[in-house]
Amino acid sequence: MHILITGGAGFIGVRLARRLLADNHLRTAAGPQPITRLTVLDHVPASGLPEDPRIRILTGDAADAVLLRSIIGDGVDAVFHLAAVVSVAAERDFDLGMTVNLHGTLALLEACRATGRTPLFIKASSAAVYGGPLAPEVGEATALFPQTSYGMQKAVGELLVDDYSRKGFVDGRCLRLPTIIVRPGAPNLAASSFASSLVREPLMGRAYTCPVPRETAVCVLSVRRVVESFVHAAALPAAALGHTRAVQLPGLTMTVADLVTALGVVGGAGVVARLSFAPLAEIVAIVKGWPVRFTPTRSAALGFAADASAEEIISDFVTDELDGKVVR
Ligand SMILES: NC(=O)c1ccc[n+]([C@@H]2O[C@H](COP(=O)([O-])OP(=O)(O)OC[C@H]3O[C@@H](n4cnc5c(N)ncnc54)[C@H](O)[C@@H]3O)[C@@H](O)[C@H]2O)c1
Repeated sequence: MHILITGGAGFIGVRLARRLLADNHLRTAAGPQPITRLTVLDHVPASGLPEDPRIRILTGDAADAVLLRSIIGDGVDAVFHLAAVVSVAAERDFDLGMTVNLHGTLALLEACRATGRTPLFIKASSAAVYGGPLAPEVGEATALFPQTSYGMQKAVGELLVDDYSRKGFVDGRCLRLPTIIVRPGAPNLAASSFASSLVREPLMGRAYTCPVPRETAVCVLSVRRVVESFVHAAALPAAALGHTRAVQLPGLTMTVADLVTALGVVGGAGVVARLSFAPLAEIVAIVKGWPVRFTPTRSAALGFAADASAEEIISDFVTDELDGKVVR
């Protein structure tokens, strides 16, 4: 099986690539398929991937229709579509967001359609597809009124994947991600970046000023779990998904204050003391429109699961990304 990951140099993409190489197979509804090739496409060079004869790292534009056709035409059986201009960046640069998030997704779907082989197509969507007046709990039955360009582009992408799947051009799944933590390295231009930064920076001995107030509610899922969810999505039979290929992934709903409490449990009071709070209007405005409670019925029935606790997520980050070392 030849797999393509777009956005494969990103936070989730690199970890998904490592997981697939380690597994050596991808389980689909037809059973485990040996992975013979893994193509990673990103417009920045991917690092942190193992030397492996199965892997091909391409630096290029995931919105370039010609490039996508040549890659997909080279026998790609499954696509994990993670490349995106994330929320704040897509809000600041409308044209770039449209080019990559909307036209890029369409170009990728068209490249799949041109093969005539119905590739598996698993796309990262976002809880940013919801917006406007919302019930206390939302899910796949909630009408989508995104309040950002990024959310709109993700919602349109889901509709495209649904229809391309209905027509048999791809076998699609769209995973609506809550906020994924804990991102190592520099923060990106996602409005949700604070949820990672307020854990990572103090654990690494650095001060961090959180741009949203303590009472802000968030719904978080670990990067370990989201990688597991992408792999799990590939294994689901299309019939199990029913009328839409979109699935809202579950997460843990808590306030920023709860996350800080968990940080204190794992890192101690000295770590928490490195945090301060100074709300930034641009971030607060985006974040307050996001739902944080999701009806878990469908995701649970499909076998997706949330993490056990915030403490576990933070401890796993210390193990996976900090070599077990906390600056106390
Ligand atoms: N991390 C989260 O909390 C979260 C939440 C909801 C949805 N998502 C979605 O999950 C996916 C992965 O997110 P992530 O956290 O790994 O983000 P990320 O920013 O770390 O990774 C996205 C990658 O896409 C690449 N990219 C952007 N434009 C490109 C282009 N034109 N051509 C090629 N590559 C391009 C970037 O270079 C980056 O490496 C994205 O689609 C994002 O919208 C993430």
